Amino acid sequence: MVQRKATSTKKKTTGKKVMNKKVPASTAAKKASPAAEPVDIVKQAPAAPVVEQAAPVEKKVPPVAEKPAPVEKKAAPVVEKPTPVEKKAAPVVEKPTPVEKKAAPVVEKPVSVEKKATPAAKKATSATKKAAPAKKKDAPAAKKPAPVAEAPIPTVVEPAPMAKEPTPVVEEAIPMSVMSNLPRRSIAFIGSECHPFVKTGGLGDVMYALPRQLVKLNCDVRVILPRYACIPQKYQDQMVYRGEFYMDLGHTGRNYYVGIMEYICDGVVYDFIDNQEFFSNGNPYTNLVDDIPKYCFFSKAALAALNYMNWIPDIIHCHDWQAGLVPVYLRTLFADSPVGRARSILTIHNLRFQGIYNIPTIKYWSGLPDHAFQMGALKDGYQDANMLKGGIAYADRVTTVSGTYAWEIQTPEYGEHLDGHLRYHSGKLRGIVNGIDYDMWNPATDPALVENYDLGNVLEHKMANKLALQRELGLEEDEGKFVIGLISRLTNQKGLDLVRDIIPQVLDGNTQVVVLGTGDKEYEDTFRYYENTHKGTFAACIQYDEARAHRIYAGADALLVPSRFEPCGLTQLNAMHYGTLPIVRETGGLKDTVAPYNPFTGDGNGFTFDRYDAGLLLDAINRAKTEYFTNRYHWDEVVQRDMDKDVSWENSARQYKDLYLELTQW
Ligand code: ADP
Ligand code: GLC
Repeated sequence: MVQRKATSTKKKTTGKKVMNKKVPASTAAKKASPAAEPVDIVKQAPAAPVVEQAAPVEKKVPPVAEKPAPVEKKAAPVVEKPTPVEKKAAPVVEKPTPVEKKAAPVVEKPVSVEKKATPAAKKATSATKKAAPAKKKDAPAAKKPAPVAEAPIPTVVEPAPMAKEPTPVVEEAIPMSVMSNLPRRSIAFIGSECHPFVKTGGLGDVMYALPRQLVKLNCDVRVILPRYACIPQKYQDQMVYRGEFYMDLGHTGRNYYVGIMEYICDGVVYDFIDNQEFFSNGNPYTNLVDDIPKYCFFSKAALAALNYMNWIPDIIHCHDWQAGLVPVYLRTLFADSPVGRARSILTIHNLRFQGIYNIPTIKYWSGLPDHAFQMGALKDGYQDANMLKGGIAYADRVTTVSGTYAWEIQTPEYGEHLDGHLRYHSGKLRGIVNGIDYDMWNPATDPALVENYDLGNVLEHKMANKLALQRELGLEEDEGKFVIGLISRLTNQKGLDLVRDIIPQVLDGNTQVVVLGTGDKEYEDTFRYYENTHKGTFAACIQYDEARAHRIYAGADALLVPSRFEPCGLTQLNAMHYGTLPIVRETGGLKDTVAPYNPFTGDGNGFTFDRYDAGLLLDAINRAKTEYFTNRYHWDEVVQRDMDKDVSWENSARQYKDLYLELTQW
């Protein structure tokens, strides 16, 4: 989804833009070529066997036949697609639609771009006012859009004035006491979502929690995010204007406004890339036709912003396909710019989503040189480019979010057709399991709960949360019932077809089920149906509700995670920390974090099953019920063991820090 656009090779030769001037294609090619990967390996890599697993995003990609002919000039993907997005993507010059008007060649309509950008700057709050002098300094730049476009990498000639300004602190609470003697490193996180600004799943949790933990390990962390319009106003209001410039993008022939809005919290600096043309949608992700230009822009703008701010990190740590082009840009178009010094790490949170589109389109928006589209890098199959695949090829290290998933993705079953590519790069692949943020997830202080509890009093106080949950959801209020929760995106990944098949058998009169999630209509409707047919015992909350999620973690007895695949999974970690026993399939991070309960020794953290099979899931639930109803003493022991289990970020953040040090040995 994330395609970052850089200037095209052709443009480089025009010398129009600084970036182009600095990176002669030939030089870049030499420096940047990823390790030559035998083409055969990729070609022969067996395609993922499960047809159903086709990434939803990919489904949106039109069949090859429908893709724009590989006209190198202007492969705007949009042309053939009558969606509004496509209009956006249409080559500006050729299509005089309203959108295209917006996209008029920069030189001709610089003002419109500035106008668009203005409100963002205006939104800056009083904090912004503090930074007013800096803003004034930058004002002239805004009036000269064309020249700015030439300087996404302005540092050598004239360090960005804003960079010298004292950083306006909105909140500051670096816990100096925990600053160790560890070597200091600077890290730029680049990703598409981050709690509490915008979150659709676990990526948002990781982008929030890991930087905070790294700060405690003597890291200087900046998180670079899109400034989506859907970010809650209270955060928008606290952002401080940090600067702005214009940047060219691929073969669009336009220069784009890049605003930088900053927010600082607990020692982590958040820099939001502002551009209303790309980020005004209510949802961060819409469809590939929209998302490809959006994340091309974001990826390139993120690197250009680092140069602009003159903040050159030791490590650039990017996440998922939306940032997959960052390592590619870094070693090509940005190689000779200051940020080109940084080492790069790409973390795969979910291999199913890869950002695949036809090559002409991705060339059009990314402007990456031809050699980046070779088989060992971006090229995927005969006609497609794959942004995550490119990132894997060019990154200095690739990580994923559990050891088991790191192994699984090198197999055809879980490799989503990139298993051959990943095996080829296995030398730089690591698995580091996620943790959870103990401040955000703490039953002793959680404001969403009716009654807080900790390890010492969980057995007395958890029940109050169960009764409150039953009341809240219209379930029969009975502390004797076994309550099973499920908190999930409702997608094919999460094993919901298994759940659907066994609900009637699970609801035996002593059991209640609570589902919280949104996603595929098929699953939403199924769960609504069960709520209607099993009133008082089945609750379907088809919504995204953070506070309710907290109450389910606290009020349920067990939490279901029967995923088809699960890179890490956070819900089982949250559940354990709240004394709720997980029932999981033994895959990915679920396998690494939930030890199976052994009824003979009493060891373990939850109930597990291996093969993806509804009968085995039902068996695991029945084993849990048996233990709950007939062996409560042991059940309670596991409750306490799980609450005591270390599922924090502490260990895992150390492993990331070690990886950073491994890459920057000086
Ligand atoms: P994934 O990233 O694949 O969706 P994870 O288990 O890693 O799965 O993370 C899911 C995160 O999103 C957890 O923090 C979970 O509590 C949260 N979550 C999922 N669905 C909902 C929902 N409907 N309402 C509130 N929180 C949700
Ligand atoms: C992805 C995975 C999930 C993981 C999360 C955070 O969304 O599906 O398993 O926990 O990313 O890394």
